[in-house]
Amino acid sequence: MKNKELEKKVAESKIGGGKERIEAQHKKGKLTARERLELLLDSNSFEEIGGLVTHRSTNFGLEKTKFLGDGVVTGYGTVNGRLIYVYSQDFTVLGGSLAEAHAEKICKIMDLALKNGVPIIGLNDSGGARIQEGVVSLGGYADIFYRNTKASGVVPQLSAIMGPCAGGAVYSPALTDFIIMTKGTSYMFVTGPSVVKTVTKEEVSSEELGGADTHMSKSGVSHFAGENELDTINKLKTLISYLPQNCEERPSNLPYELDNEERPSLETIIPENPNQPYDVKNVISNLADKNSFFEVQQEYAENIVVGFARLAGRSIGVIANQPAVLAGVLDVNASTKGARFVRFCDAFNIPLLVIEDVPGFLPGTDQEWNGIISNGAKLLYAFCEATVPRITIITRKAYGGAYDVMNSKHIGADMNFAWPSAEIAVMGAKGAAEIIFKKEIKSSKNPIKKLQEKEEEYANLFANPYNAASRGYIDEVIAPSSTRKKLIKAFKISENKKIKIPQKKHGNIPL
Ligand code: HXC
Repeated sequence: MKNKELEKKVAESKIGGGKERIEAQHKKGKLTARERLELLLDSNSFEEIGGLVTHRSTNFGLEKTKFLGDGVVTGYGTVNGRLIYVYSQDFTVLGGSLAEAHAEKICKIMDLALKNGVPIIGLNDSGGARIQEGVVSLGGYADIFYRNTKASGVVPQLSAIMGPCAGGAVYSPALTDFIIMTKGTSYMFVTGPSVVKTVTKEEVSSEELGGADTHMSKSGVSHFAGENELDTINKLKTLISYLPQNCEERPSNLPYELDNEERPSLETIIPENPNQPYDVKNVISNLADKNSFFEVQQEYAENIVVGFARLAGRSIGVIANQPAVLAGVLDVNASTKGARFVRFCDAFNIPLLVIEDVPGFLPGTDQEWNGIISNGAKLLYAFCEATVPRITIITRKAYGGAYDVMNSKHIGADMNFAWPSAEIAVMGAKGAAEIIFKKEIKSSKNPIKKLQEKEEEYANLFANPYNAASRGYIDEVIAPSSTRKKLIKAFKISENKKIKIPQKKHGNIPL
């Protein structure tokens, strides 16, 4: 008899908002909270916590609409054998809206995850603060924000956006490490289209204002996007495979047998003409284990490429200038994108590989007025403070301040390689000749010829890696084809790197 009551309650908690609302959810091309968990977690691994929780509100007749679980399914389970804590908001229950009890459930699993050093995954699908419950809904959000911040850098926190995520609700995902959206069925914004219209008179759809494409390409808020919910969940699983459980662990290495690690095709990857672009992703795919590169923020600030990869089974973070976009120049967006990724990898013991081909920082009023000084400093700061193994390969240009910033020896890189095609100097030969030989060129009978001569003179001295190598700024000039082999060894020997940082409360990164 007693078990019957339990069975009844459990069955009730499983149907969320009921058949009709589940159908409505499916009609929108969306799965339910529990269907998503089934796709995410290993079968039979989910253990639910708080399935019988209900809200305590009596405002606006809310006592008549109680649902077991209060619109969020919480608990723990495994993803490919890895333990994670998870919450999955149930849009079929009061629009997945968040109030006191709903928030308490999320906070409970966050506290458990933090205590046990386990990643947290949030599947968000919610109409935001439950309007009927008033300020306790806002308090509930703030309780989550506080925990997100406490957990930041301690355990990985991943947010999937599977439906609406509006108003202050956006700030929990924004405080986590990665956001993944679903194309067509999810959106995120602080104020929706109708408020936008009232305030700024702009007419914009939800999709345009805050859909996956917008946040992938325009704002950079979303790090990944799934074509559909299944794709979103698969991407989450891939992401987690590169990460450790917490900041005291390393990501686990996949088994790897060393083979012929020469990559002859890298010998011809750099064009003869140094002003010609090439796609750095071809360099990455030649250096990383086959099909292991998992790009982050693929469509945002494409002049820098960041993502996870494996090198002989070891998880690494790759930061590469992209000569195929804006010549790989560093600008405001590329600097913040790079800096955030470097800091994530450093927080979670993921070694860094930098592939450098950078003509410098982007000049112009737009960049200066948008703070290229403080934004560029973010990338510099992120590299300077990183204590994980750090290796740089200069494939071609390493000019100006960007040479220093992109993980130079001087700011703590462990091993710096250069290809014979590297050019390491304060600036390009033409610009340099125009400045330092200005008078000589002006007074010459043939200024064009003189400029060419001086340009050549400067290029001979600096448009190569040997000057830097003679100073020890470059540890070794290497054949491109041998790079993968060298990297495997260099990361292996840095495995037990230990750095003591001065004791402080926290640094003051130029935000
Ligand atoms: C209570 C809500 C709700 C909410 C939706 N519902 N949002 N109930 N509080 N915030 C309920 C609806 O009343 C409805 O109930 C059911 O969920 C499904 O909603 P629909 O509107 O029918 O669904 P849909 O047409 O898909 O539209 C979804 C929506 C819309 C766009 C999310 O519901 C909406 O605009 N909701 C309000 C969004 C909002 O303004 N939230 C507050 C944001 S401010 P029934 O019973 O009819 O099925 C915020 C502050 C956070 O979140 C602060 C943190 C600092």
